[in-house]
Amino acid sequence: MNTDILKEKILQLKKEKNAVILAHYYQEEAIQEIADYVGDSLGLSQEAVNVDADIILFAGVHFMAETAKILNPNKKVILPDLKAGCSLADSCPPDLFKTFKEEHPNHIVITYVNCSAEIKALSDIVCTSSNALKIVNSVPKETLIIFAPDKNLGKYIMEQTGREMVLWDGSCIVHEAFSIEKLLDLCKLHPDAEIIAHPESETHILRTAKYIGSTAGMINYVKESSSNKFIVATEAGILYKMQQQVPHKILIPAPSHEDNTCACSECAFMKMNTLQKVYDCLLNESPEIKVPLEIQEKALLPINRMLELS
Ligand code: 13P
Ligand code: SF4
Repeated sequence: MNTDILKEKILQLKKEKNAVILAHYYQEEAIQEIADYVGDSLGLSQEAVNVDADIILFAGVHFMAETAKILNPNKKVILPDLKAGCSLADSCPPDLFKTFKEEHPNHIVITYVNCSAEIKALSDIVCTSSNALKIVNSVPKETLIIFAPDKNLGKYIMEQTGREMVLWDGSCIVHEAFSIEKLLDLCKLHPDAEIIAHPESETHILRTAKYIGSTAGMINYVKESSSNKFIVATEAGILYKMQQQVPHKILIPAPSHEDNTCACSECAFMKMNTLQKVYDCLLNESPEIKVPLEIQEKALLPINRMLELS
């Protein structure tokens, strides 16, 4: 089926089934175009609370769809490809994390939203890249903190807040693939460009950045900055919405290592969702996201704490 026909059929099905499509900025352009809402992890969680529909089709990765399900236990949440995972979420298996928690008694657990529902159920507060600093700062200074699963975001927060945290050793394969050597070469070619970076990037990349923030934060920054050229260190899908917001500015994707398995700054998990899979998923109302009730109830508490603090 050609793209335009597929899009039309999806929009029709969406109406017939009273469904909404929530999409992350890293989704392919065609999916962002037919989505009801496109946003970052925090925006998507907030939107999921307000959804007035019977079905939520989540165009993103598994942990995001799980979060939407936890926030909407009575709605059907579907994900176009169940294999759309996340290297950060995968880096933190519940059994190992339970042991890690036991090794650090008297610590509270703050987890980055990029983790499974089981890990959220073992947490005190969830955060996203938009609100991680605010959430950590909301915890009294004398309280000991375990931060998981992203060590790069954790290190960045430690630097910004000046407080120690115990970090889980996880990372994002896409943001760890940026090459500092190539980035510095690119800066020589574009001395007038500002570097903006997602905090999942490594410290040496973050040190070069004029602005560090979530995907939504980066889009706002390029809108407000007086600069006309940016080197963007995050997943390349963001360039679509970003360019729409600043049609006259120049956006250059940050370069990755040649041996990067993704070949470029694309998240292979995010890109598992395609327009055809969105259509099939809506038509069949499958694959559906299921979270055991006990996990749902436990995971809801730290997510709600985050939403209250945001
Ligand atoms: P955001 O919180 O900016 O949406 O980032 C999510 C993510 O998966 C980044 O890799
Ligand atoms: Fe996970 Fe990284 Fe992909 Fe984001 S870009 S979904 S953190 S693997």
